[in-house]
Amino acid sequence: EDSSIASPFPTRDKRTTADHLAKYEAMFTLPPRRMQTLVKTMEETFHKGLQKDGETVPMIPTFVFGYAGGAEIGEYLALDLGGTNLRVCLVTLKGQGKFEIKQTKYKLTDEQKQDDGRKLFDFCAECLASFITDDLGRTSEDQALPLSFTFSYPCTQSRIDHAELIRWAKGFGAPNVEGHDVAAIFAESLAKFNVPIKLTSIISDTTGTLIASNYVDPSTKIGVIFGTGCNAAYMETVGNIPKMKHLGMPDDQEMAISCEWGAFDSFVPQHLPRTKYDVIIDETSNKPGEQVFEKMIAGLYLGEVFRLVLAEMVDAGDLFLGQNTSKLEKAYALDTAFLSLMESDPTDELLTVIGIFSYFFGIETTLEERQFCRSLAKLIGTRAARLGACGLAAIVSKKGYLDKGCSIGADGSLYGKYPGFADRIHEGLIDIFGEAGRQVLRRSVMHLTKVLG
Ligand code: GLC
Repeated sequence: EDSSIASPFPTRDKRTTADHLAKYEAMFTLPPRRMQTLVKTMEETFHKGLQKDGETVPMIPTFVFGYAGGAEIGEYLALDLGGTNLRVCLVTLKGQGKFEIKQTKYKLTDEQKQDDGRKLFDFCAECLASFITDDLGRTSEDQALPLSFTFSYPCTQSRIDHAELIRWAKGFGAPNVEGHDVAAIFAESLAKFNVPIKLTSIISDTTGTLIASNYVDPSTKIGVIFGTGCNAAYMETVGNIPKMKHLGMPDDQEMAISCEWGAFDSFVPQHLPRTKYDVIIDETSNKPGEQVFEKMIAGLYLGEVFRLVLAEMVDAGDLFLGQNTSKLEKAYALDTAFLSLMESDPTDELLTVIGIFSYFFGIETTLEERQFCRSLAKLIGTRAARLGACGLAAIVSKKGYLDKGCSIGADGSLYGKYPGFADRIHEGLIDIFGEAGRQVLRRSVMHLTKVLG
């Protein structure tokens, strides 16, 4: 075939998407050596965060002293303000790692995330009040139920029932909360509803995952969240936390540390292999320069990384030629859930991908374009899992868990819903540690997610 004969019609070079894919593969692939370097840097960063306050990765002492013993029984309320939903739960602990959960879930609107903080906490209190009066049938005469508030944003704690918000993350921006004690603000909101509740603790979702997973499997040593945001917690001994020395606790006292690793490499990024798309996401976010690691991994952002690549190719005339792509041009128009769906499309024709583009964006796709999209989703999803593996490996290496082996309790929508995410983390750990990485067990707490919906 003589390819030098020019066609009078605009045709697309057959190799175009393959060439592009090779380019993106180079951009988004994390080779093992690169991962090993990152692990080392992260470990050093974690170490620094334990030395003194104000470090980029704050390594938050949570004032959670060790694991549950397994004998705890009784009814406890949990309020979970994550990144996307608000969940209210009644947890009944039955001892020996057994429990029951009754829960209601509310979706947060974008306005609520930006509106005055007091309104946000009033809303939380209102949901809680309606849960305990309408769903549990309790009245103000009843004995107060202990409430733990899972508030998953970077906070400084000086007690378990005190948490000063350092900065919002995950797209939240509600004014008048940063720099304030969230427990105090929430207590004021609660007081507006005459309900039998006693706020006893504020914890991060990672600490919750660590303690809950250890409750059902005592070999669990790390709790990790891959959801709207990304972070991990583990148990440290006070002797390894120099910034707590002044409290005079015994060196062998255990305390959970919420790493807040989402902040790794923030402010002056120099270690992470960021692409221009990661830079755009950061710069156009409501918190530029912050949570730089999280922005490459978490569910809130992966769809946007993907969309930015597509938008650039559309602009260059390399994709969806001659189609109206205006719907795709809107920031955050493409949810990470679409990446999961594309990756799990079982059909040769990629019918799910056809559906996504035509239904949500009014775009007709060629098979080649669909295959490209699916491969691109895989690159972005895999990079996220491998970066997450680096963070986990840094904890494993710091604590010497490779020799002892450990389970990792994982939760969050990305972990639970993204196809193959857990396997990719595991592969990442093997790439970092070699075959020894296999000893580090993954343990999903999907039964928790399932009960929690
Ligand atoms: C963000 C928060 C952190 C939380 C994580 C997962 O990184 O700062 O506290 O654990 O999201 O929800």
